[in-house]
Amino acid sequence: MSNKPEILIARAIFPEAVARLEEHFVVESNQSDESWTQAQLVSKLRGKHGVLTTGGERIDEALLSACPDMKICANMAVGYNNFDLDAMTRHGVLGTNAPDVLTETTADFGFALLMATARRMTESEHYLRAGQWTRWGFDMFAGSDIHGSTLGIIGMGRIGQGIARRGAHGFDMRVIYHNRSRLEPRIEAECKASFVDKQTLLKEADHVVLVLPYSPASHHTIGAADLALMKRTATLINIARGGIVDDAALAAALKEGRIAGAGLDVFEGEPKVHPDLLALSNVVLTPHIASATLPTRRAMADLAADNLIGFLIRRAALTPLNPAAVASGR
Ligand code: GLV
Repeated sequence: MSNKPEILIARAIFPEAVARLEEHFVVESNQSDESWTQAQLVSKLRGKHGVLTTGGERIDEALLSACPDMKICANMAVGYNNFDLDAMTRHGVLGTNAPDVLTETTADFGFALLMATARRMTESEHYLRAGQWTRWGFDMFAGSDIHGSTLGIIGMGRIGQGIARRGAHGFDMRVIYHNRSRLEPRIEAECKASFVDKQTLLKEADHVVLVLPYSPASHHTIGAADLALMKRTATLINIARGGIVDDAALAAALKEGRIAGAGLDVFEGEPKVHPDLLALSNVVLTPHIASATLPTRRAMADLAADNLIGFLIRRAALTPLNPAAVASGR
């Protein structure tokens, strides 16, 4: 019988990453990418020492109580709102995420979504494909400018800073941001970004981009009252997490033309999308793909694998979220 630690890979990932993990562990891998219920996940995790999650698998008190051998949950995502980190710490289970390796790719996508929304690219493409384009029109699909406009970023971590740099240096935008804490002057200068309160940001920005982590405290950061502060010509971009925006309130604001458009990569209750959003043309909808380039997804899988190998074999994870879980032991 093998004395290698046992791990579960909860969703299909790069076969090379699976093979690397198999060098160190007894691996059960969901390479067929079946959808498991929470009960199935728990039953697969019984007796396992580690799991590679991809951001959608909920690691909570009930699961941890049922899986006492678990030592590490390595998320192949920078966000980790699928982890109940307090429960993990209580159970002595380390959580790791996948920061840094996706920063520039995700910032690229945030900017692409902003541009597609402001310049009405998908809406106009659908019109063309539907055979409705018969002649030129002076205001046909007139959008809003990006260059020289005001970019408001809520959540100024690494990805937010990447978007700020693109806006300030590439498009001559005035950048304002709101964050839990103000950034060091050196970073503000690099991003040419000024700290403002949330209300000022919503009132002054032509394009509002959300890049903050989801937590109960950030639930519905943007609701009806916040949307009411925005300019009628403004766009709202969410590449952060579903639940940060009240999707029903956003759909109502878009329907009534209270803001000009929205670009959404994440949704409350995804992969379900609020039906009112699906019915609107002034919203660009993408299926949570902001980090989806092959090199970046490879780097994310490698980092998650390195965390499992580093921790279970060498007792040192690369990107721990709750090192106290290990310090206290179990
Ligand atoms: C994607 O949403 C991530 O958190 O990496």
